[in-house]
Amino acid sequence: MHTILITGGLGYIGSILLKTLQKKNNRILCLDNCNFNNYKIRKKLSNKIIFFKKSISNEKFLKKIFKDYSINKVIHLAAIVGEPACNKDPEYSYLINYNASKKIFDLCVKYNVKQFIFVSTCSNYGKNKKSFVSETSKLQPLSPYSHAKVNFEKYLLKNKKKIEKISMLRLATVFGMSFRPRFDLTINEFVRDIYYNRKLEVYGENFWRPYVHVLDIANFITVLLKKSKKGSEIVNVGKTENNYTKKMIINKISKYLNVDNVYFNKKKIVDKRDYRVNFDKIKTKYNFKIRYSLDYGIKEIISFLKKSKKKEVFSKETVNS
Ligand SMILES: NC(=O)c1ccc[n+]([C@@H]2O[C@H](COP(=O)([O-])OP(=O)(O)OC[C@H]3O[C@@H](n4cnc5c(N)ncnc54)[C@H](O)[C@@H]3O)[C@@H](O)[C@H]2O)c1
Repeated sequence: MHTILITGGLGYIGSILLKTLQKKNNRILCLDNCNFNNYKIRKKLSNKIIFFKKSISNEKFLKKIFKDYSINKVIHLAAIVGEPACNKDPEYSYLINYNASKKIFDLCVKYNVKQFIFVSTCSNYGKNKKSFVSETSKLQPLSPYSHAKVNFEKYLLKNKKKIEKISMLRLATVFGMSFRPRFDLTINEFVRDIYYNRKLEVYGENFWRPYVHVLDIANFITVLLKKSKKGSEIVNVGKTENNYTKKMIINKISKYLNVDNVYFNKKKIVDKRDYRVNFDKIKTKYNFKIRYSLDYGIKEIISFLKKSKKKEVFSKETVNS
């Protein structure tokens, strides 16, 4: 039996990861300061999970849990997530996303943790019109959010010998439902706004980005906990066929919903990220198959919207900015 610490475990990805991992025979600790009134989500999860409502910047508390529990593995998800959220207060976001992450890693080294999984982002690739980028491509962080992610990846690479196994996962943009749904993510937001026939202004309609379902991430992390070998690695998490432009996403949604209130704003660019990602490594190294398609996600979101109240899906708790 392992003791696994998951930071940010009550968030959009984290809560689905906890649900997946609680079925296995491990002791799970979850550290989350619950920025989105999301402490209540713990009631939907196993009562065997040990929850701490604390910040990852609370060094004294971090030291205590590393001292009190023999933690073998750490999955580090906690962060100020997304470009708009980080742009609001870049200094604070750097303190959390870089400085506090560094402290957690240093404690992992001190307390002999064997495996460290860091959830990074494909946003690190920034803008690359020409070809598909892969794990070895040049990074071009365009915002405080991706700067902190890139700098922490560098820190891990510099210290890669200090922990037996280190994985840095560059996730595609995530979609799909969770105990903490996020409607500030492209696909989730587009489906919600079209479902409610709200005016949706789409910027950079021909900009590319890769997408991945939240369950595929949880499943891949589960595989990593079991299968990864000694050493450090960077892995893009997604599927090469699931790179789409925003216009392509709107077309897909139009198979399921009437699209009459979408405006393509060709003049304004709000987000410069534009890249296509190659995901061969996750297939060749781990034989991992991405199972959930964009169509699956769109249908899942629609059925979630049918069951939910409008005020819930438009509440502040579902957006990070
Ligand atoms: N969702 C995506 O599309 C996406 C894509 C690439 C990478 N990621 C990465 O995945 C991770 C999880 O993202 P998410 O989409 O679940 O976002 P999220 O905002 O739902 O999850 C982050 C969690 O961390 C918690 N948190 C924030 N600051 C904290 C602090 N100081 N101390 C303790 N907990 C804190 C929040 O309460 C939240 O529960 C992040 O590291 C993010 O950068 C997400």
